[in-house]
Amino acid sequence: MCGIVGYTGTKLAKDVLIEGLRRLEYRGYDSAGIALQEGGSLSVTRRVGKVEGLAEAVADLPTSSTCGIGHTRWATHGAPSERNAHPHVSCDGSIAVVHNGIIENFQELRDALAAKGHTFRSDTDTEVVAHLVEDYYEGDLLAAVSRATRDIIGAYGLAITCAAEPGRIVATRKDSPIVLAHGEAGSYVASDIIAVIEASRDVAVLGDGQLADMRPDGITYYNADLKEIEPSIMHVDWDVDVAEKGGYPDFMLKEIHEQPRVIRDTLAGRMTNGVLSIDELGMSLEELRLIDRVYIVACGTSYHAGLIARQLIEGWARIPTEVEVASEFRYRNPIITPSTLVVAVSQSGETADTLAAIREARIKGGKVFGITNVIGSPVARESDGVIYTKANKEIAVASTKSFLGQVVSLTLLSMVLAQAKGKLTNDQVRLLFKDLADTAEKVELVLSDTEAIDEAARACKDATDAFFIGRGMGSATSFEGALKLKEISYVHAEAYPAGEMKHGPIALLEPGFPVIAVATQSPVYDKVVSNLQESRSRGAMIVAVATEGDEEIKANADYVIYIPKVRDAFMPIVASVPLQLFARSMAIARGCDVDKPRNLAKSVTVE
Ligand code: M6R
Repeated sequence: MCGIVGYTGTKLAKDVLIEGLRRLEYRGYDSAGIALQEGGSLSVTRRVGKVEGLAEAVADLPTSSTCGIGHTRWATHGAPSERNAHPHVSCDGSIAVVHNGIIENFQELRDALAAKGHTFRSDTDTEVVAHLVEDYYEGDLLAAVSRATRDIIGAYGLAITCAAEPGRIVATRKDSPIVLAHGEAGSYVASDIIAVIEASRDVAVLGDGQLADMRPDGITYYNADLKEIEPSIMHVDWDVDVAEKGGYPDFMLKEIHEQPRVIRDTLAGRMTNGVLSIDELGMSLEELRLIDRVYIVACGTSYHAGLIARQLIEGWARIPTEVEVASEFRYRNPIITPSTLVVAVSQSGETADTLAAIREARIKGGKVFGITNVIGSPVARESDGVIYTKANKEIAVASTKSFLGQVVSLTLLSMVLAQAKGKLTNDQVRLLFKDLADTAEKVELVLSDTEAIDEAARACKDATDAFFIGRGMGSATSFEGALKLKEISYVHAEAYPAGEMKHGPIALLEPGFPVIAVATQSPVYDKVVSNLQESRSRGAMIVAVATEGDEEIKANADYVIYIPKVRDAFMPIVASVPLQLFARSMAIARGCDVDKPRNLAKSVTVE
């Protein structure tokens, strides 16, 4: 969703800000803007639409400014329009604000400020911050921002600059990330590491309630009481070129091809001297043994990773496991005791619903374990333990490599739980681990020949609807296949456990209706084939994802996509890859932008 950048230093600020905003484009947005300090005043430029439009608007701006703030906005309060785009300014235009999050008490603040004579020019919640800071301003921006945040209820990441204080930007946050870096050319702030790592690999992660006072020659950090503090520094070891396409036509394809590396990196260092361990769990063997219920809470693709894990945790560790959409979990008063383990799964680590579920679980006394891709993210910070998925930055809005990283991490967790409970011996775990590691090579094989996938996608490209079906592990895999297709190709796609087809969905089948079935070798293979036949006899066009060597399936499918033979428990890791490629291929055939699908944002930071 929204993105923040800010810069003060020696370079031309408009260039640094536009470059930073380009790096944040992947998050999804509908308008963009920048404010530049310009000889004792502020110049603000805002545009609806892409950052490119904003870049054109400021290209010929006669500016030598070296200090400014910028923003990409995803509308919440007020329609996407120029007047609602950030930065927002105070009455006299001397204070400019960019904001991520939601100010919950904005109406109350707005009414109070309006009564004092402040004039508002937008429909946003953010604008109140500019007026509030103006109200408290007595010549020191840091003091005014600190005072203003005491009045705000809600979530915020803020960067604020003031025309009267050349070269100064103040940033602060609550429940919305802010990171900072200082390099040779000056000081940078952003809502996402990718926009600051060019300055330095050592990035400061601002804590809730903390403030950063940025000047060209350095950044000073304060706690909420304005006492100077040492920032929490995180070293980033991935390259800025993860944000480049590296020769691929789009980020989605690049990220799909990175998956063998993600599997290997996620497993690296886990098995030492024949013993599997997850040190980051933050739980002793005794505590693990006591776990008698697991909840997996997540949204979207991460939820689908949870569906796969449920079968592994219940199957191997024999612990009752529920998978819940995070937005439902917190409102249904879940039963949580000290022996409940809540596993929160989130690529971004900042999904508002997942964070709310974590907080609910902690209030109720449960242990929370996070699985996330973003180091230092709120999910990582608020959990008792965390596994990082090692996918590195994921730019395409549709998750692919982070999903595989989640499934592999959850698989490790399932094995560790089973080991602790005495349900799997160390020898069994070692065998499983070897097969798990082998999936990297199997994914490489899938990626090496995609002709059958593209052919099936071309055949389905004009469809308006599609079903994805499977049983057992295949059912969980189908859910992710359907989500990928609807997200990026805008084809209405639904997933069903294959046995459910005849209880309703089959009524929709007509000649040519695509049914994509995960029909790999498994204990339920014959049943899936029966369900395929039922669909085929109603004229459906069957695309089967099957195990190499299965000739029988050809009699029951119009298109067959083979994957290498793999243990059923790990089949989703391998079978998800052709489904990702199928969705991408169909989206491209339909002329869609696979990296930036309409209406979607990479991080969903509002409930
Ligand atoms: O960052 P998170 O994993 O918490 O995000 C959850 C969903 O918003 C996300 O998986 C979404 O469904 C993606 N667009 C999937 O491709």
